[in-house]
Amino acid sequence: MKILVTGGAGFIGSHTVVELVNAGYDPVIIDDFSNSEKSVLKGLKKILKKNIKCYSKNCNDLKTLEKIFIDENIEGVIHFAAYKAVGESVQNPLKYYENNIGSTVKLLHVMNKLGIKNLVFSSSCTVYGQPEIIPVDENTPRQPATSPYGSTKAMCEDILRDTIVSGSPLKIISLRYFNPIGAHPTAHIGELPNGVPSNLVPYITQTAAGLREKLTVFGNDYNTPDGTNIRDFIHVVDLAKAHVAALNLLKKQADNYYDTFNIGTGDGVSVMQLVKTFEKVNKIKLNYEIGPRRPGDTEKIYAITTKAQEVMGWKAEKTLSESLKDAWRWQKKITKK
Ligand code: UD1
Repeated sequence: MKILVTGGAGFIGSHTVVELVNAGYDPVIIDDFSNSEKSVLKGLKKILKKNIKCYSKNCNDLKTLEKIFIDENIEGVIHFAAYKAVGESVQNPLKYYENNIGSTVKLLHVMNKLGIKNLVFSSSCTVYGQPEIIPVDENTPRQPATSPYGSTKAMCEDILRDTIVSGSPLKIISLRYFNPIGAHPTAHIGELPNGVPSNLVPYITQTAAGLREKLTVFGNDYNTPDGTNIRDFIHVVDLAKAHVAALNLLKKQADNYYDTFNIGTGDGVSVMQLVKTFEKVNKIKLNYEIGPRRPGDTEKIYAITTKAQEVMGWKAEKTLSESLKDAWRWQKKITKK
């Protein structure tokens, strides 16, 4: 089954391409390389021992999508392609609405027109905001987003659901990712942040590699056991496998289907616990200081993942230690270059 992977050269996209091939799917990438590098394709080749077809194009374009769907005989889509920098989205909201919403709407138009039914969408736990009760399941009410980036995820979920409510034959799953970290165990692919990382683990690995002076832990006065934020950190390979499980489920569903799934480990881990685990498993002393809170940060959130287990037969298998070892192995490799 040929699957178009939009944003397939990105961090989660590239790991998903590997798992798709491992599961017998045939992925084709479309990526405009605005936040990824061509070297990812070489990494994929090293892991998979074959070339993965890639269109270097922006997917926010009806004609481009239609042509690829027809030329490649595409039967399903995983839609990763989106801008994702929270801060930038506040500065430049139209860029985010235009790209993230525009590409999703266009995909839906073309899929409806050509009768391509299977779609997996990259959503985020950001749609829950700071919930009153944690951990969260899929029925936890969504909260107004704290950034245009977050709004685009909630709005796309609504657009997908409304499309199904309207009677479209499409079959759609939104996966709400918690915090993806780590890298492929081969260290041939991993995270490649653009400029100064805003996410925790790439900031840690760059600090450990001497590329940053020190990590600032954003606040230790939260209402959590050690005062730092709590998140659900999931190995990117486990997350990638969730997409395979989602496609397998879509294939079994009747037309006109929409559902959402939390994709996390089910464990809440604090920022300081993660820092300490990184130091321990990699035998490194990390230079860090406690700084002020980062505006907009959620105090604590982690997932209930029972639904993904019961309905998709998927659950996260890798440990935090494995994630942090893989992240460090990848960082050492790219620092050497
Ligand atoms: C953010 C986004 C989320 C997105 C995810 C992508 C929001 C509110 N959050 O999640 O939607 O899907 O990135 O991975 O939109 N931290 C530090 N020092 C640092 C960096 C981070 O202490 O230098 C802390 C943060 O305060 C936070 C934790 O580490 O408590 C995780 O931060 P980060 O990796 O940026 O992810 P989120 O903010 O959880």
